[in-house]
Amino acid sequence: MPVSRDIYRAISASFPTGILIVATLDENHAPKGLLSQAYIGLSTDPPLMLISIDRTSRTLPALQKRRAFVINFLREGAEDLATLFASKSDDKFRGVRWQPSPEADGSPILREVSVAYAACRVSESREAGDHWIFIASVEAGEVLGGTPLMYYRRTYAAWSAERPAPPVEGVS
Ligand SMILES: Cc1cc2nc3c(=O)[nH]c(=O)nc-3n(C[C@H](O)[C@H](O)[C@H](O)COP(=O)(O)O)c2cc1C
Repeated sequence: MPVSRDIYRAISASFPTGILIVATLDENHAPKGLLSQAYIGLSTDPPLMLISIDRTSRTLPALQKRRAFVINFLREGAEDLATLFASKSDDKFRGVRWQPSPEADGSPILREVSVAYAACRVSESREAGDHWIFIASVEAGEVLGGTPLMYYRRTYAAWSAERPAPPVEGVS
């Protein structure tokens, strides 16, 4: 018999992660997005990334329609934005500066709050339990630098300054 929801959640909460905002455009070209931690760097060659979106997400229909999105990996200082994008607000992008990604069909790049971003086009999607999985080809992206924002047991915190992250190899 599978474990209970509570145990499943407690096990999952034992895993600290970076966090990201998945951003896309809806059919009226309005920006939509949500906070996520379910990310996999799936394949290097070809470059593929995987995200997992709850079927109750209000961003989900836009993702399914546009089949393109930007993964914005958040950096230190973006705690309030993370909280906003984890909410059901209709107006998450109000006052947020973003640029459209040509490679991801205009999906928002949140350059000022991200350590890196990846502009993606969906190659495969399927339902899995109460989520939808999207596998996407990485068409463009950039490492912007800074200290990543992490999530653990309902708390946001910057990557520990006691062990500063080394630079990314091969990227200037
Ligand atoms: C740290 C954290 C990680 C989350 N990860 C995901 C995720 O991977 N997939 C998902 O669908 N929702 C995730 N959520 C929940 C969504 O951010 C939340 O349900 C949000 O309200 C969805 O917004 P939307 O309905 O406007 O799309 C996460 C929330 C938090 C706080």
